[in-house]
Amino acid sequence: MPSENQAVLSDRFGRVVDYLRLSVTDRCDFRCVYCMAEDMTFLPRQQLLTLEEMAFLGRAFVSLGVKRIRLTGGEPLVRKNVMSLIGNLGSLSGLDELTLTTNGSQLRSTAPALAAAGVRRINISLDSLQPERFAAITRTGKLAQVLDGIEAAQQAGIERVKLNSVIVRGQNDDEVVALVDFAMARGLDISFIEEMPLGDVGCRDRRGGLVTSEEIRQQIAADHPLLASTESSAGPSRYYRVAGSASRIGFISPHSHNFCESCNRVRVTCEGRLLLCLGNEHSVDLRAVMRRYPGDLEALREAIVAAMELKPERHYFYHDDKPQVLRFMNATGG
Ligand code: GTP
Ligand code: 5AD
Ligand code: SF4
Repeated sequence: MPSENQAVLSDRFGRVVDYLRLSVTDRCDFRCVYCMAEDMTFLPRQQLLTLEEMAFLGRAFVSLGVKRIRLTGGEPLVRKNVMSLIGNLGSLSGLDELTLTTNGSQLRSTAPALAAAGVRRINISLDSLQPERFAAITRTGKLAQVLDGIEAAQQAGIERVKLNSVIVRGQNDDEVVALVDFAMARGLDISFIEEMPLGDVGCRDRRGGLVTSEEIRQQIAADHPLLASTESSAGPSRYYRVAGSASRIGFISPHSHNFCESCNRVRVTCEGRLLLCLGNEHSVDLRAVMRRYPGDLEALREAIVAAMELKPERHYFYHDDKPQVLRFMNATGG
C-alpha cells in the first residue's frame, strides 16, 4: 500500500477519484417530492455507521488522496452530534475542503459552528420562493425557516453559499428567473439541476417533467445576458456569469449533457455502502470491512482501492425505458 495522502484512487477509465460524498443519515425533516415517497421507512439506527466509523472512513479516503469531502443526507444536520464528525474531518491533514449539502432548516443554530469548523462552502436546496408551493414541494418544509437559514449561513461568514434548484415542469418552471434574481440580490451562487429518477417516489412520470438545462438557460438569458465561464467547483456544474454580478449560475445536466467522463467522485451511504456511481447499483460494503477488522486502516484502504475496479463508465438511469436505480436519493447522498 502507498504511503499516506498519495493519490492512488483511479479507475479502469483513467479517472482519478479525489472527492468523497458521505451521507451521514437517510433521515430528513423534509420529504421533497422528487427525493422521497410520502411514506418513508428509514433505516434502524444500528444499521448506520457510527460517527467514529465515519471519521475513520474519512481518514482512510484522505490517506488515499481524497482532497474534498462533502457531507450529505438525507439532511446531514439532523444527525445527532454531527458537529463532532465535522470537527474530526475538518482537522484531517491532507483534506483541502469539507463542505455540506443541506436543506437549510437547521442553519440558524448550526451555521456559526460550521464556519468555526472550517466549512467555507455550503449548498442549500431551494426550489421555490412561494411559501405554499415550497410547502407542497417539500411536503413538510417552511420557506421562512430556510430563508432565515440562508441568511444565517452568510452572517456566519461561510464564503460561498450555493442554492440548488430542481426544476420540474408544471411545478416550478415559472420561477427560474425569480430564483436567479433572489440569488443575485444576495451574492449567492445557484445551480439548476435536471431531476434524476432515483427510487420510486410515486406515480409521477419523471421523464415528462424534465426541463432541460438549455431551456432554463434560455429563460434566464432572456432577462440576464449570460457569459459562459470556465470556473469549476469540482462538481458537475457548468457555470455562467451575469455581467456585474458576483453570483455564478450553474447547470447540472445529468440527462442533457453527460459529465461522467470527468467524474472524480464516489459516495458512501450512511450504512457504509461505497457507491461507485450515482446512476448504477455497483457497491462495496465498507461497514462489513470495518466491523470485521476494527481499527485496521490498511484493510479498509485495500477494500477501497479494490473497489475502484467496479466504477462504471457512466450513469444509466433508464434500462428498457424503466428507471433502473432503485435507491432513493436520500439513501444515496445526491
Ligand atoms: P460541488 O461538487 O461542490 O460542486 O457541489 P455539487 O453541486 O456537485 O453538489 P450538491 O450536493 O449540491 O449536488 C447538486 C446536484 O448534483 C445533486 O442533485 C446531485 O445529485 C448532483 N450530482 C452531484 N454529483 C453528481 C454525479 O456525480 N452524478 C450525477 N448524475 N449527479 C451528481
Ligand atoms: N434529482 C436531482 N436532484 C435531486 N436532489 C434530490 N433528489 C433529486 C433528484 N431526484 C437534490 C436536492 C439537493 C441535492 C443533494 O440533490 O435538491 O439539493
Ligand atoms: Fe430532504 Fe434533501 Fe431529500 Fe428534500 S431533497 S427530502 S431536503 S434529503
